[in-house]
Amino acid sequence: MTSARIIGTGSYLPQRVVTNRDLEQQVETSDQWIRERTGIYERRVIGEEECCGDLARIAAQRALEAAGISGDDVDLIVVATCTPDRVFPSLASSLQRDLGIRPGATAFDVSAACSGFIYGLGIADRFVRTGGAERALVVGAEAMTRILDWDDRGTCVLFGDGGGAVLLEAAERPGVLTTHLHSDGRYEPLLYVPWGPGQGYAALGTQSGYIHMRGNEVFKVAVNTLTRIVEETLDAAQVDKTEVDWLVPHQANIRIIQATAKKLDLHMDRVVVTVGEHGNTSAASIPIALDTAVRDGRIQRGELLLFEAFGGGFTWGSALVRY
Ligand code: ACO
Repeated sequence: MTSARIIGTGSYLPQRVVTNRDLEQQVETSDQWIRERTGIYERRVIGEEECCGDLARIAAQRALEAAGISGDDVDLIVVATCTPDRVFPSLASSLQRDLGIRPGATAFDVSAACSGFIYGLGIADRFVRTGGAERALVVGAEAMTRILDWDDRGTCVLFGDGGGAVLLEAAERPGVLTTHLHSDGRYEPLLYVPWGPGQGYAALGTQSGYIHMRGNEVFKVAVNTLTRIVEETLDAAQVDKTEVDWLVPHQANIRIIQATAKKLDLHMDRVVVTVGEHGNTSAASIPIALDTAVRDGRIQRGELLLFEAFGGGFTWGSALVRY
């Protein structure tokens, strides 16, 4: 049976580093509070001249190089983002042009907030398995700091910018084994950006364009939901938790990650944690963490990886992948 194998990974973080100490100058917070509650010690902030498409492009370019594949050989581009540069064209179509990917290929963006990469992977996996694409580029890229209120200490300490990408290829060997995508729109009041262009520009005068979050309530639902989805995923694949080699979770908060690892009885040295260095990069966080652990040699070919994510919507999702 055909499956979608990951044949290349790439990631990119913007140059500008903002530390917790820097944020102490901005809002009433402390390095200690941020580290203890979130595990974050610094984040990257996109440059004035940069845009989200740049983060996506560099990450995708690196994934193509890692796989040794040229743009001509890509049939599908899915970019997960909630901070696109334009209403349209999609970041995926811009990426197609910028990377010289074959004209006529399929390209679109996915909006599922922090779960966006898992959604993109799940969609691309279905394309590849059903013969709709031979090779698919799945990118998560976010300029989250563009939608942060830097006076709101409840959110500005949490997020950062970045991009990550994987290239999938149809193969007869196992690759993506199972993906699970969920949403529950009733939770919107806990995590949302009030304004979008559908409301008209006049509404921007009365509505905020920044992230609003009731962090404590988000935290509780996230922990419960992620521990549930781990069971759902392992059951679907008929895999025992002892078989998982690496947990590659969405990087939002070290305490949420630890709770999921505990559910799996997985020692933290089998969990890829990069949140400390870049904060919550939303849809970019899983491919950044994956690429980091692939390039530093922790993740090896043939190992079993579990990805999981939770975010605005609420949305949540998971994937079990034979790397
Ligand atoms: N610095 C110092 N104090 C702060 C800060 C800050 N940056 N932010 C909040 N506080 C204060 C609060 O005002 C509160 O003070 P009070 O007790 O005097 O009222 C106190 O710290 C505790 O606040 P809580 O919200 O209860 O703190 P909590 O332990 O829940 O940590 C946090 C807050 C880090 C936001 C946590 O709830 C969290 O990580 N939630 C998940 C949010 C998240 O990750 N969202 C991203 C999208 S969803 C996802 O990706 C999983």
